[in-house]
Formats: sequence, structure tokens, C-alpha cells
Amino acid sequence: MSKSSTKETTMMYALQTMEFGKAQDVLQYNQVPKPKIKQSQPTDVLIQVKAAGVNPVEAKFRMGNVPTSSIIIKTPAIFGTDYAGIVVDKGDKVTDIEIGDEVYGSLWTPWGPNGTYAEYIIAKQGYDSIVKKPENISFEEAAATGIAATTAYQGIIVDGRLPTSGPKKILVIGASGGVGSYGVQIAKLSGAEVVGICSGRNANFVRSLGADRIVDYTVDGSIDTLAKEEKGTFDLILDCIGGDYYYNKLIYILKKRGVYSSTVGPEEHVGANRVDIYSGANMAFKTLSHKLFGPRNYSLVLKYPWLRFANDLRPFLANGSVKSIVLHENIVDLKNGADAHLKIESQRTIGKIVLRI
Ligand SMILES: NC(=O)c1ccc[n+]([C@@H]2O[C@H](COP(=O)([O-])OP(=O)(O)OC[C@H]3O[C@@H](n4cnc5c(N)ncnc54)[C@H](OP(=O)(O)O)[C@@H]3O)[C@@H](O)[C@H]2O)c1
Repeated sequence: MSKSSTKETTMMYALQTMEFGKAQDVLQYNQVPKPKIKQSQPTDVLIQVKAAGVNPVEAKFRMGNVPTSSIIIKTPAIFGTDYAGIVVDKGDKVTDIEIGDEVYGSLWTPWGPNGTYAEYIIAKQGYDSIVKKPENISFEEAAATGIAATTAYQGIIVDGRLPTSGPKKILVIGASGGVGSYGVQIAKLSGAEVVGICSGRNANFVRSLGADRIVDYTVDGSIDTLAKEEKGTFDLILDCIGGDYYYNKLIYILKKRGVYSSTVGPEEHVGANRVDIYSGANMAFKTLSHKLFGPRNYSLVLKYPWLRFANDLRPFLANGSVKSIVLHENIVDLKNGADAHLKIESQRTIGKIVLRI
């Protein structure tokens, strides 16, 4: 019998962020009121969460390291954006989703009181994404997709301005991580030749995702060689690391009409480090000036296309052409959620980290 079933059904377990701070100090596995469907919210869907994806942004918010986080987030809060689970109740105006359906998707905000690091969540149809889970993928694989897969899709397919015909070439920086592992697969699906930047220990893994070639950034001179030998040959760079280093070295490997699509921005944010007002302003300035004056477009992935999940990504997940990489050691029980945050802050993980609930 699970711990929750011994308690009243009006309560559930959740991983609460009690205040801003280090994961091991502030994340607590607590009983909290279980959300329920209200008549006044007819598009609400109550979902029993089976797995929740963990993303770097949630660690940054947990540390209080995003400007205004302490204003917009009231602690204790429940973080978590991405989920997979089973529909257990729904409002009167919910369409195409039935009680008992296995679903996955993302909530609009990565913080509570209704985050996905919990046994139950409310998702609002038409606002949050709620998509039927393909039968061939697990709850963990479905929960992993969310922010990471949609960011890769947005950065490559939506913002990428890829040529519609002829050969194309895409570079994915940070190819072994959460976003990068989807990025390599989506880039390959676009028909491009794909080059991945990763450390040597992850080279075979990134090749297994479909990369045609690897550049090992830990080898002295490897990035300089790429910059020198492949000038003007790439259509798109998906940069999942950010900062000036890769940008300054690699911008000229793009064709003139090429796009530098960054998931982080010109300021590198290591682990859960601070995104302060200065770095925010600096990022906005650099992004805008690149857009206005640079021949090679600089694009910061900012828009989360949650509601496009169903149309765009689901078929690829269903037919297996895009897979979530969730290694056994990266599935963490909800009550040990602090370990999951420590892993994501390490910036050394392969694929996605997922909480099992
Ligand atoms: N704008 C948006 O909408 C959006 C959405 C999602 C994510 N993001 C941001 O995008 C970034 C990446 O997210 P993520 O989930 O992919 O992170 P992640 O999974 O934590 O990335 C970890 C990976 O980064 C690789 N890595 C670390 N340093 C590297 C370097 N110098 N060069 C190449 N690879 C390196 C590591 O490989 P090795 O161990 O081999 O070094 C590891 O596999 C985060 O800052 C996140 O906040 C933004």
C-alpha cells in the first residue's frame, strides 16, 4: 500500500520548495491539499501524475536566481512543468479527453502552487498542453519531452529558417543534454547533415541519436579547427550552452542567411547560477543588436509552443523517430527530488532527468 493511500484522499504528497535556496536545504516531501475540479473552472483536468520532467529552469527558480522570482513565486511552492499521468476527473467543458486517458504535456509555468512535482495536478485545456500519450512510450519518456523537446523543435524547425530544398547542415552544441539530445534527432529528421558538440565520453551516445559527426570540445583546438575548416557552411546552430565562447568562435561557420538559435542567450548560466538584472539587460541588448545588424540572425528560443505538442511532436514520438533519453539512473523517486535537482545543476547529465511519482 502506498504512503498516500493510508491518508485522506483530500491530501496528496508533493515536493515543496519551502523557501529559495539549495536543493538539499529547501526541497521537502510533504502532504498538501489535493487539487480538485471546481464547477467554476469547466476546462480543468485533474491528472494523477506518474512522472515529472526536471529542467534547469526549475533549479534556477528554486535558487531564487531569476529576476522577480521572489515576487512572482510565493513559498512554499511546488515546482515542475512537464508531466505524464492519468486523467482522474475533468470539468464539464473538457473535450476529447476522458477519465482514464493516459496523457502528457506541460503546464504554462514552472512553479506552484500547482507544479508537476506532485501526485496530482490541474491542467487547463486550451492553456496548458494535454496530449494523449502514445502507447509505445513510458510515462517517464513522455514526461521527459515537455520543455526540452519543444525548445529543440522551436529552435530548429520554427525559428531555424532552414532551406526547403537542397542539402543542409546543422550544428548542435551541448548535444548530449536534455535539449541537445532531442535537438540532434529533430535536426536529423529535417534531412540535414548533423554535427554534435559534446565531450568524448558522450560521442558514441550522440552518434547513436543520429549525429553524422562529433566535435569533442574537451580536445584542445577542436572548436578552432571547426571554425577554420567549415566557415560559411552551416545553415543553423542550436546552442544549448550559451555564453560568448561558442558564439564568438563559431558564428562565421554559418552561411550569411544562417541562424544562431540559442536556448540560453549570450550570457552563460552555469547550473542554477544567477540570472540577474544586468545579465538580463545584456542578453536583451545583444539579442536585439544581432537581430538588427548581424547578417547571421541571432535567435533566442523564448516561446514555448506547448499547445503544438499534439500536431507537431506527438507523431514522431509515436512512430519512434524521436525518442526521450531517460537513463535508469536518471529516474529519481519524488521524495528524493533534491537529488534530481543536484543532478540537473551538475550540467553533466546525459539526456533527461525525470521524477517518478
Ligand atoms: N529558452 C528556453 O526556452 C529553454 C528551454 C529549455 C532549456 N533552456 C536552457 O538551455 C540550457 C540547456 O538545457 P538542458 O536541459 O539541455 O541542460 P542539461 O541537460 O543540464 O545539459 C547537460 C549537458 O551539457 C553538456 N555540456 C556541458 N558543458 C558543455 C560545453 N561546454 N560544451 C558542450 N556541451 C556541454 C554536458 O555534456 P558533457 O558532460 O559531455 O560536458 C551535458 O550532457 C539550460 O541553460 C536551460 O536553462 C532554455
